[in-house]
Amino acid sequence: DSQVTFKYSEMTTTFAEPHQLRSKPDVSELKFGQVFTDHMLKVFYHQALGGWQKPAIIPFENISLHPAAKVLHYAIELFEGLKAYRGIDGKVRVFRPDLNMRRMNLSAKGSGLPTFDGIELIKCMNRLVQVDQEWVPHTEGSSLYIRPTLIGIDGTLGVARSESALLYTILCPVGSYFDKTSNNSLSLLADPTYTRAWPGGCGDRKMGSNYGPTIRVQNKAAKKGCQQVLWLYGDDHQLTEVGTMNIFAFYVNERGDKILATPPLNGLILPGVTRQSIIELILEWGEIEIQQRTITMHEIITLQRENRLLELFGSGTACIVSPISSIEYMDTAIQIPTKEHANPLYQRVLDRLAAIQYGHIEHPWAMPI
Ligand code: COI
Repeated sequence: DSQVTFKYSEMTTTFAEPHQLRSKPDVSELKFGQVFTDHMLKVFYHQALGGWQKPAIIPFENISLHPAAKVLHYAIELFEGLKAYRGIDGKVRVFRPDLNMRRMNLSAKGSGLPTFDGIELIKCMNRLVQVDQEWVPHTEGSSLYIRPTLIGIDGTLGVARSESALLYTILCPVGSYFDKTSNNSLSLLADPTYTRAWPGGCGDRKMGSNYGPTIRVQNKAAKKGCQQVLWLYGDDHQLTEVGTMNIFAFYVNERGDKILATPPLNGLILPGVTRQSIIELILEWGEIEIQQRTITMHEIITLQRENRLLELFGSGTACIVSPISSIEYMDTAIQIPTKEHANPLYQRVLDRLAAIQYGHIEHPWAMPI
């Protein structure tokens, strides 16, 4: 009788001893993902023992792995990222965890790792956040980042599906990814010699193996004085993603209509939760047309030259929305006027998402724990 999922109702909790408790940092000075909370969630999967085992919340600890563990050799692993926010009413809410659970199971299928019932993991993670609720920052702009991770742990070197796995979740308090008061916006390097994802690949899954190989390109961007990589694809230099974010272009078409465009989910694009939320907000507002379609560098250059490009911005869970100010492309610098308008769209989107996340308005996307 193999366990197709683990169950929240079977979860055990072991609280940290007083001497194991960590001191809480000042979130305003925090870099992303450096400080972790007092507890973590662990669930093992062992095919030989019938599948998923009982979930457990335990004091935060190192994990011990066989040196041949598949995750360490073949990157058999995937992760998710979502956030818990402390609302103005003091309640803690998690933003659209159902979408992360759906994507996590798709990534698991793509990695030969076991799937599970996402509702059960949401319940377990909510309990973990509740146990560490003192760690959910009290200042707006800050949040508790939730990192579910699933790794293949068979201590065998065959390139094959892992018969045992470990699903764990860790939490870290994070400050505002980008400072609202500064004129901070991203400069990008767009170099068509690099490719993040390709047709038939797995660029639409949140697997660690999509991220490791980006570091050398990120280093190249930094050497050229750029903050992030704009990932292009194909002979027509299609825009796909920016850094670890989805990308949006806001512009005026030849008829004078305002359009918000973002690349389609064609297999090259990570199906971002923030991406989907922005699309749904724009549809709900009904003022601006939204297009999910291919955008090329040629089009960006033309729009910019004709003063019809209004804004470019990235979206993701870590940064929420991040405005873009320039692109270095084939030895030319393209200036993007994202921050030069009154009442820019990216800020309206950011404000609306914050209102939902921090409970200024009740909304089904923000799930109280
Ligand atoms: C995001 O939330 O935008 C990410 O993908 C996070 C990242 C650190 C991989």
